[in-house]
Amino acid sequence: MGPAAARRAGSEERVVQFVCVGRVGDLGPGEMKAVKAGRHIVGIANVEGGWYAFDDTCTHEEASLTEGELYDYIVECPLHGATFDIRTGSVESFPATVPLPTYDIRIVDDEIHVATEPRERA
Ligand code: FES
Repeated sequence: MGPAAARRAGSEERVVQFVCVGRVGDLGPGEMKAVKAGRHIVGIANVEGGWYAFDDTCTHEEASLTEGELYDYIVECPLHGATFDIRTGSVESFPATVPLPTYDIRIVDDEIHVATEPRERA
C-alpha cells in the first residue's frame, strides 16, 4: 500500500504522509506495539476504542516504551519508570523531562494509518 498524503494548515504548509502499519484486529483494547512509520519507530495503542501513536523511544534514555506497561492513557517506561500521556506526549512522572513526540493516526476501513512525522508542538 502506498502512502497517502494530506495537507495540513500551519505557519508553513507541509505535507503529512501516512503509511499503513496494520489492521485494527491486530491490537485489542489496552494493547500497544511498535511499528515502523517512515524513518521512525512508533508505538501505537488502542485505548477504549481510540487509537494513539507516539515515539517508541523514551525521551530519557534509549528504551522501547512499548516494552513497558500501558495504564489507560499512560505508558510507563520499562527502564526507569518515567510515564507519559500517549494522547499529548506530556511527561507525567520523572526521570524523563522532555515530552514524547506524538503522531496523527487514523483508521481507514480496517487499516491503521500513521503519519510518518510527529505532530508539531504549539
Ligand atoms: S529510559 Fe525511560 S525512564 Fe529512563
